[in-house]
Amino acid sequence: MIGSALHSVPMDLGDAQENGSSRKRVAIAARGIEMVFNSKTHPFRVLQAIDLTVFEGELQMVVGPSGAGKTTLLLILSGLLTPTRGKVYLFGKEIVGMDREERTQFRRHHLGILFEEGNLFRSLTALENVELGFALKGFRPSSARRQARHLLESVGLGDRANHLPRYLSGGEQQRVAMARALAGNPPLIVADEPTSALDSQNGRVVVSLLRDLVKQQGCTAILTTHDPRILGFADRIVEVEDGVLIQAESQTPIDKLNRSFRTS
Ligand SMILES: Nc1ncnc2c1ncn2[C@@H]1O[C@H](COP(=O)(O)OP(=O)(O)O)[C@@H](O)[C@H]1O
Ligand SMILES: [Mg+2]
Repeated sequence: MIGSALHSVPMDLGDAQENGSSRKRVAIAARGIEMVFNSKTHPFRVLQAIDLTVFEGELQMVVGPSGAGKTTLLLILSGLLTPTRGKVYLFGKEIVGMDREERTQFRRHHLGILFEEGNLFRSLTALENVELGFALKGFRPSSARRQARHLLESVGLGDRANHLPRYLSGGEQQRVAMARALAGNPPLIVADEPTSALDSQNGRVVVSLLRDLVKQQGCTAILTTHDPRILGFADRIVEVEDGVLIQAESQTPIDKLNRSFRTS
């Protein structure tokens, strides 16, 4: 399905590109993204002229100060927010122009999404929350339960499976939300600050799990972070500042980013 969609978009966005010695396909191509929020008094431009590319099999991180527009950008890349201008191609399919239903279906089949607040269902246990991720992707209940349990174990929460979210710490809730986002091995994982509530060790557990998935299964991940401890897991790092993407399309040296974290 993904392969056939590649022929419907311009060559440079959906088709294979030369990237070093190997040919890689594009998972995300955002072009000319602009986002303006209209407040009562004046329009407020949050993102402008954003061009971003993520290749299949890559873990890309988006960094930048608070308020820079990182969450807004991920919402647009996930099809949860419509940009004022620009196009977003996911695996060669343009999603901004899709109608709501088509976009929902596309998300369901291609994306695993985790936003900062986690959005767990309060009346469902940790295990049931993760099972729901599988159910939405069409898994049968017995298989959903078995795989949900396995995923919870892989984020270190096997012994918390039957707890309701209110009996879990913020970090544990964040790991449940990550497990739910990974349900059914989505080809693209989009995660907004997935380690913000985690201590250093659990932050590493979650990000190395993500990295293993990306490397072993060839899926793709993009995540935002404030957390200098996890930058070493990235294949590529881009920086958003005042709504503009800087250092785009290149790997920002981690030393430089660590310096800017320390001074902010
Ligand atoms: N729905 C909205 N309406 C108006 N302004 C918004 C909305 N969402 C975000 N913003 C503003 O856009 C800017 C960028 O926000 P955000 O994308 O959350 O930044 P970051 O994730 O980098 O901290 C902030 O100034 C924020 O207040
Ligand atoms: Mg944010």
